[in-house]
Amino acid sequence: MNRREFIGWVGVGSLASSLPVVIAACSSETKSQSTTTPVRADGFQVVGTVADLDKNGQLLNDNTAGKVLAIKDPSNNTKVIAVNPTCTHKGCVVEWKQDQNAFVCPCHGSKFASDGKVTNGPAEQPLATYIAKVEGNEVLVKGS
Ligand code: FES
Repeated sequence: MNRREFIGWVGVGSLASSLPVVIAACSSETKSQSTTTPVRADGFQVVGTVADLDKNGQLLNDNTAGKVLAIKDPSNNTKVIAVNPTCTHKGCVVEWKQDQNAFVCPCHGSKFASDGKVTNGPAEQPLATYIAKVEGNEVLVKGS
């Protein structure tokens, strides 16, 4: 093996060994948080902080009740709303679009109002909702 071949193999080896780190770093950007907080005696579970909700505009979380997407109530900024973000059309994950005042599905364009009701198909069923509230700096949800 000459010098050029050796450097080429070292380059391939270092690229291959760093690939899992790059993939992990990229995938963590789109991953929802998993909460490890226990379900309280009153049925509520912490899904994130008000600070994170203010910073990101929404909180996406997997907890014992299932997927949760929490937002500030557009009609009352002191309250929170939480839905199951699984689109009722074919199961994609909706996102809150503040400029459209709607949960929007990236797959086929369904839109849902902040209370989960369908405002634009093809979805026909509303998003499942949770009871949500703020206590101190924590956002809590409970299955409804
Ligand atoms: Fe959401 Fe089709 S999966 S509109």
